[in-house]
Amino acid sequence: MIKEQKAEVAIIVIVDQNNGIGKDGDLLCHLPNDLKHFKKITTGHTIIMGRKTYESLPKGALPNRINIVITSDNADNYPGCIVARSVDEAILLTKDKEKVFIIGGGKIYSSTLHLANKLYLTRIHHKFKDADTFFPEIDFNNWELIEEEKHKADDKHLYDYSFTTFIKKE
Ligand SMILES: NC(=O)c1ccc[n+]([C@@H]2O[C@H](COP(=O)([O-])OP(=O)(O)OC[C@H]3O[C@@H](n4cnc5c(N)ncnc54)[C@H](OP(=O)(O)O)[C@@H]3O)[C@@H](O)[C@H]2O)c1
Repeated sequence: MIKEQKAEVAIIVIVDQNNGIGKDGDLLCHLPNDLKHFKKITTGHTIIMGRKTYESLPKGALPNRINIVITSDNADNYPGCIVARSVDEAILLTKDKEKVFIIGGGKIYSSTLHLANKLYLTRIHHKFKDADTFFPEIDFNNWELIEEEKHKADDKHLYDYSFTTFIKKE
């Protein structure tokens, strides 16, 4: 595994109370404020995603970000993206960047949680019965909560949710 750690390798994810993150190739629910939060945090930076997460993006590569897709597939199928063949290759491709964001999905989170030193975790205060993709278990002894913002459900958000940010303890 690559040791030359950059300043910030951040994971950004929205989970339900079972650590569920997706169903049938899509998110568990639509929370517009979380999409805004995601956009604000990641714009201008490099994002790394798995092939299935790329396929879930309605308009392909996300604008104003360097998009890296990890896949064994033909690179021509990922317009506007840089294709990497492994997590190590993706991280190596970002070695001159101060910050990189891992944006999912489940397979990529599982193979990168140990590399991350920051975690932007949106919690949906609900348990979905039918999630089929999950975030790996987090040992919160290793993480320090540095920000928390709670929101109530409203006409655009079916569930209460919280934005939390953690940094990895030394
Ligand atoms: N809640 C959230 O914040 C969030 C965020 C992102 C995604 N999601 C959801 O998560 C689901 C997708 O997650 P997923 O786990 O099914 O797929 P994924 O991690 O997005 O993509 C899996 C694919 O990426 C490549 N890949 C992943 N890990 C790799 C590794 N370590 N080395 C080499 N290649 C690797 C492989 O592509 P090839 O098969 O092409 O080789 C693999 O089939 C969707 O439902 C999506 O909506 C949720």
